Amino acid sequence: MMRTHYCGDLNESHIDQEVELSGWVHRRRDHGGVIFIDIRDREGLTQVVFDPDIADMFAIAEQVRNEYVLNIKGKVRHRPDGTVNKDLPTGSIEILGKEITIINRSETPPFMLDVEDHEVGEEHRLKYRYVDLRRPQMLERLRIRSKITSVLRNYLDDNGFLDVDTPMLTKATPEGARDYLVPSRTHPGEFFALPQSPQIFKQLLMVAGIDRYYQIVRCFRDEDLRADRQPEFTQLDVETSFLDEEEIMGMMEEMIRELFAKVLEEQLPNPFPRMTYAEAMNRYGSDKPDLRIDMELVEISDLMAEVEFKVFSAPANDPESRVAALRLPKGGELSRKDIDGYTKYVSIYGARGLAYIKVNELAKGVEGLQSPILKFLPDDVVMKIMERVGAEDGDIVFFGADKMKIVNEALGALRVKLGHDRDQINRGWQPMWVVDFPMFERDGSGKRWTSLHHPFTAPNDEDIDKLESNPGACLSRAYDMVLNGTELGGGSMRIYREDVQKKVFRALGIEDEEANDKFGFLLEALKHGAPPHGGLAFGIDRLVMLMTGAQSIRDVMAFPKTQSAACLMTEAPSPAGPAQLVELGIRVAKPPKVEGEKKADKE
Ligand code: AMO
Ligand code: AMP
Repeated sequence: MMRTHYCGDLNESHIDQEVELSGWVHRRRDHGGVIFIDIRDREGLTQVVFDPDIADMFAIAEQVRNEYVLNIKGKVRHRPDGTVNKDLPTGSIEILGKEITIINRSETPPFMLDVEDHEVGEEHRLKYRYVDLRRPQMLERLRIRSKITSVLRNYLDDNGFLDVDTPMLTKATPEGARDYLVPSRTHPGEFFALPQSPQIFKQLLMVAGIDRYYQIVRCFRDEDLRADRQPEFTQLDVETSFLDEEEIMGMMEEMIRELFAKVLEEQLPNPFPRMTYAEAMNRYGSDKPDLRIDMELVEISDLMAEVEFKVFSAPANDPESRVAALRLPKGGELSRKDIDGYTKYVSIYGARGLAYIKVNELAKGVEGLQSPILKFLPDDVVMKIMERVGAEDGDIVFFGADKMKIVNEALGALRVKLGHDRDQINRGWQPMWVVDFPMFERDGSGKRWTSLHHPFTAPNDEDIDKLESNPGACLSRAYDMVLNGTELGGGSMRIYREDVQKKVFRALGIEDEEANDKFGFLLEALKHGAPPHGGLAFGIDRLVMLMTGAQSIRDVMAFPKTQSAACLMTEAPSPAGPAQLVELGIRVAKPPKVEGEKKADKE
């Protein structure tokens, strides 16, 4: 071994010991004939001093530069009085260097290592990721990530789950994104899909009698990327047989409680609160409410049904629309410009405006209010709204009136934005389950139904008869775990009867022939003794992101992709060679972009 200790592990208990360290030069300083080298490894850094009296070694020490790889031998001693560094775990000792070997040289690093995440352009950090990962913040996140997966594995191992691999080269699994395709050389013109999740395979493992399965598994989804989405990401995927949703949810929240207790020493509530999808949408305009924010959407359609102001009365009288209010405590101090900003913000979600009422002095009645819409509304209606939202002097009340989906998305997003902007987010962890999801939602065109989860999710027993006659009214046996406004995981009880699975496919507009073509192997398996089963999958990257407080999912992945789904370090994706293409029987219709264009794209 090239070390007796890690650099960061040394302290006063090692005084007078001869030690050997290997690591990187964090910094080198010349101080009037003495050379100080801070040597760093995974566990931290330690100061080494070279005196000129060992001339040959001193000469080597003079040559070293930042990030050179060194091996150093020396003796641990107290730092002289007045030079102790209390901010450093090794700050009370130093090594008197006796031997130094330069194992490898390094070019000047592309950026300093003792910087915060935002102080270096992210492109730079991604291009030189191996340097970026040397920064203590990044190391710490990887360390916590490793601890997290280890605790999760132990919990599942202890509860009788088997870790089983499923294929990466496979057939499309519908989780709502585009597939990444891989051409087959042996079957020209045909393609594998990389799994969006192991969903079908884990169900087949239940048919096989595995009973309890888990896997920490890579999933691939070609979709628009955001701060909490990557094209390839990691799930903790779980499936069980002969357990119902109560038992599965109970076991999974116990696992998350244990995780938070072991890794962060945080106690999460027992049990996690539950909310139906309908209530979550109604009160928070979101199926992943951030319960740390107290503000809520308040339904006022009934109060608006009779008013003359069409902007409000039309949606109030339409069953697919709603009128809702959102009270921001102390929001009266918002300027015209702030309000314009928020109006623009909600327009991203399709809102055509953002009406508001400022509450100056409630005791004066309508006289004490201030708003461009007061003139359109009867006084008694206005006062009833104020009462219902619990308005107090100094507040502002915002209004959304439109199709349900638009109002929920717009006011739901505004609620979270106001929470952040106005510092109205309570501290702590707020986990919850969202349950009783609808089976289906309308797709973009509004004509077809799509699955809210995936098409293998079981409907409530009493809704099976309505699958084809009234799909919109069917509820599913799905559940999502939400933590502080992030969807951490989701799952469901699955369909295990072939006839029910076919009904769901038909409701989705997938006719039998197409169903056989795409999922014939699943339908076949359901005929061979499929047990009742269900499970869920957690997004490990999102979990780590929350637990480490990272701002981006990229900060908790060793080698993530950019917003445009490219890797700046390896420069993947890249064009395939002509010979490879011929072998695969592929002709490229769109020539790849030249280097400059591609780079601009990524930035
Ligand atoms: P779902 O599609 O909800 O369910 O995915 C489960 C969890 O995976 C995480 N996740 C992502 N994380 C990072 N980047 C992405 N692009 C991304 N997409 C999803 C989320 C999400 O909650 N097979 C089902 C699970 C089941 O029914 O058992 C599934 O994949 O945290
Ligand atoms: P207008 O009469 O169109 O100028 O609208 C009066 C106020 O109502 C303005 O503050 C608009 O921002 C707001 N408004 C218009 N349409 C909507 C809507 N669909 N939901 C909420 N507020 C709206």
